[in-house]
Amino acid sequence: MHSIFLDTLQGKKTKRPPVWFMRQAGRVLPNYNKLKEQYTFRELMDDAELAAKVTLMPVDDLGVDAAILFSDILVIPNAMGMELEFTDHGPVFNKPLKGLINPASHLNPDPSKLEYIYAAIDEIIKQRPSNIPLIGFCGAPLTTLCYMIQGISSNPNFPDAIRFLFQHKKEAIKLIDAIADLSVVYAKKQIGHGIDAFQLFETHANLIPVEMYNELFMPAVLKISRAVRETGTPFIFFPKGVGTGLKYVTPDVADFVGIDWQMPINDARKLVHEKVGLQGNLDPRTLYATHDEIAAELEKYKPFFKENDKWIFNLGHGFLPDIPYENAKFVVDWIKNTDW
Ligand code: CP3
Repeated sequence: MHSIFLDTLQGKKTKRPPVWFMRQAGRVLPNYNKLKEQYTFRELMDDAELAAKVTLMPVDDLGVDAAILFSDILVIPNAMGMELEFTDHGPVFNKPLKGLINPASHLNPDPSKLEYIYAAIDEIIKQRPSNIPLIGFCGAPLTTLCYMIQGISSNPNFPDAIRFLFQHKKEAIKLIDAIADLSVVYAKKQIGHGIDAFQLFETHANLIPVEMYNELFMPAVLKISRAVRETGTPFIFFPKGVGTGLKYVTPDVADFVGIDWQMPINDARKLVHEKVGLQGNLDPRTLYATHDEIAAELEKYKPFFKENDKWIFNLGHGFLPDIPYENAKFVVDWIKNTDW
């Protein structure tokens, strides 16, 4: 496959950075919102034809250089036995694990519950344009554990989940191991069905000290990373809010690391080992501004790209649902048409 995204991941020089967005297959697209009038999120995810259609929608409607599987990180807890409902107000676990001293013992991981996702991958691979790679993903262990214990609450600090880590470390490790084991099976299956790169989303890395992350969670990240990379598939790790902890994302951990919008990209480059590429990191809220203001923010990346070709353009976190579609399209066109 000739793909600018894969070229960059493989360390080849390109004329411009590749571009894709976290949460690109979602509410920022008018065509997605139209489909949502007819189908629920669950129906879109469960049906291979519909999931393929939504996965490829941002390729057609925005012109991005890669597709990301239309699914969710919550499918892993679901396959571990937690009942999950996608309501009009978002996803809900019927019974979060908070208050349980040994939550792992209440779970019953069943990898076959993820089979429908591989059918979606098969359909995407059949339908995609020949130069468009497919990114697979799953949630990283801390983020997945937070949702499992706390549920999907409006409290962004996941207090019960974090207290559990401090109070019941041994039991926490059992849960982390169980999440990692199913994630490894899931990642390998995604690769077997044809994904071209894999991203691990650690959206809530900011919640604990870096030392605690390294001790409790990094071994699980490494397990998943090794399983992916031993197949030759590039591995992107996105530890959002990790700050100077970026220096622990060594070549052992990942090929590329996602940089959040809190961290200036030049500072990120100094913190991360030179062999590890960067992905990011425009603040998604920049896309509320005018085209001129957005262009001014994008200009700032030009000198960075001159010095750093191991870079994939992305946002510093996912699209917010109310970002104007025209502005998302403007960013893609700017990245693709600018003389870098
Ligand atoms: O476009 C893509 O990025 C691919 C699909 C994708 C979704 N979720 C679809 C989705 C991906 C990669 C995710 C990852 C995900 N899911 C993360 C990690 C990345 C991040 O954004 O931080 C997290 C934390 C989740 C968990 C999750 N899923 C929550 C908390 C919610 C509710 C909040 C919300 O945005 O609605 C979801 C729902 C969800 N996942 C939607 C989509 C398109 C919205 C559902 C809808 O359209 O009604």
